[in-house]
Amino acid sequence: MYPSHRPRRLRRNPALRRLVSETSVEPRHLVLPMFVREGIDEPLPIASMPGVVQHTRDSLRKAAVDAVSAGVGGLMLFGVPAEHDAEGSGAVDPDGILNVALRDLHSELGDDTVLMADLCLDEFTDHGHCGVLDEDGNVDNDRTLQIYGEMAVVQAQSGAHVVGPSGMMDGQVGVIRDSLDATGFADTSILAYSAKYASAFFGPFREAVDSQLKGDRNTYQQDPANGREALREADLDLAEGADMVMVKPAMSYLDVLRDIAGVADVPVAAYQVSGEYSMIEAAAANGWLDRQRTVLESLTSIRRAGADIVLTYWAAEAAQWLRSTRA
Ligand code: PBG
Repeated sequence: MYPSHRPRRLRRNPALRRLVSETSVEPRHLVLPMFVREGIDEPLPIASMPGVVQHTRDSLRKAAVDAVSAGVGGLMLFGVPAEHDAEGSGAVDPDGILNVALRDLHSELGDDTVLMADLCLDEFTDHGHCGVLDEDGNVDNDRTLQIYGEMAVVQAQSGAHVVGPSGMMDGQVGVIRDSLDATGFADTSILAYSAKYASAFFGPFREAVDSQLKGDRNTYQQDPANGREALREADLDLAEGADMVMVKPAMSYLDVLRDIAGVADVPVAAYQVSGEYSMIEAAAANGWLDRQRTVLESLTSIRRAGADIVLTYWAAEAAQWLRSTRA
């Protein structure tokens, strides 16, 4: 006549719910991706990512300080150069926008803030691919690796504490580790984008970095249909010396995140990408979703699936919310 099990007992009031809550999101778990664009005087809004901008060097510095005072765990920097070329040469130029901005942030924030740099060529190439091309127009894995190695060293010299290779080239983590070690940067860590899918959810990012890409990235990013392959990619990255591994996008790949978190013996990150951001922003702007609740639920679900670290465009704002709820 009565149910013998009543899970609702533990949901009766906020105090009990707080006591038994399994997953938390804290500001320190959140990393803010930021865009800095060469040669502009005012920050430029990114239309498909309401609330996110391409920063000037100056506005980047200020926004970084604000994010850090909100308590975020780190910053991930992307550069948007004024000029693109076939080799993506702005990426290895110490005076290229990404490296200049890393120096700006490092001199502003020192070593108290974890500074990460996206390590990839797509922002810098005139064809928009993550690597250089061979004569047939295919992405040349091994020649790209040499450039990644150089890029890592310049980023470390510019003040990056963590480099984030996101190009999905085979062997990228090993080559980057070797070149950092050989140049006195044994302490610079590698956050490997291990399981990165050829995802439609990167759509708004292409506007954010003025991507020149015409085709797709299907020969290097993973097929969304494949889960096991993600474990293999993560294993290889760990064997090559990754200090942390990442799954990207996050919300459509929580199963992959869970699987990798179950086997990785290093911190696991997940990247809540541009399209995940824009989707919720658009629905919230229409009054279809409660913005703050939806954002916090999405972050909680990514943490629950196994992410130690979450990269999210809401990092600074969410950090503020989380602090004020606790106070
Ligand atoms: C490659 C890179 C991309 C993103 C992060 N690093 C784009 C891509 O691989 O197509 C996507 C991030 C996002 O969508 O928020 N440099």
